[in-house]
Amino acid sequence: MSILVISTSLNPGSRSRVMARQSVADLQAAGVQTDWLDLQETPLRMCDGGAAYGDPALPGVKQQIINATGIIMAVPIYTFDVNAAAKNLIEMTGRDCWTEHVVGFICAAGGQGSYMSVMQLANSLMLDFRTFIVPRFVYATKEATEGDLVVDGDVKQRITQLSMEVVKVSTALRG
Ligand SMILES: Cc1cc2nc3c(=O)[nH]c(=O)nc-3n(C[C@H](O)[C@H](O)[C@H](O)COP(=O)(O)O)c2cc1C
Repeated sequence: MSILVISTSLNPGSRSRVMARQSVADLQAAGVQTDWLDLQETPLRMCDGGAAYGDPALPGVKQQIINATGIIMAVPIYTFDVNAAAKNLIEMTGRDCWTEHVVGFICAAGGQGSYMSVMQLANSLMLDFRTFIVPRFVYATKEATEGDLVVDGDVKQRITQLSMEVVKVSTALRG
């Protein structure tokens, strides 16, 4: 059992990455093996449906996804959707990686109004790849983090709950 936590924000001051780190800490504190993929450390070419699939970073990224028992994706909300880098990751990795995986989401947003924005990606994963989406997600605005820390107690608790829910569901389905 290994849970892959993916941070998709390309912003060096990313808040979703801080929450992703909190999830890793929660999982490790519970004795769960974790893996980490940060698209700032491992940038991928933009998908063009052709030559971009030759990106030398791609095989390693695909293997990380395939090896995972469950996945937590930390995403920024941009224009009422996830950011382009998160969508690009799905486009670059595709069916072989995501089919019947278990995925939970942590979202960083600028305001409360975009709270359903992650559903477009969730729907796409469910319909295209039969991905199991954990029906609990974390959605937080900038007040939730300060520097490298999650300071909002409620958000912190929700990250823990989500992390443990991904472990529970992925163990039951794929364990
Ligand atoms: C191009 C762009 C579009 C954005 N669109 C939205 C949006 O539709 N809804 C929202 O609540 N916040 C929006 N935001 C604010 C981001 O979600 C917010 O800055 C969040 O912290 C980004 O995540 P990150 O810190 O992990 O990069 C947008 C920010 C940018 C740069």
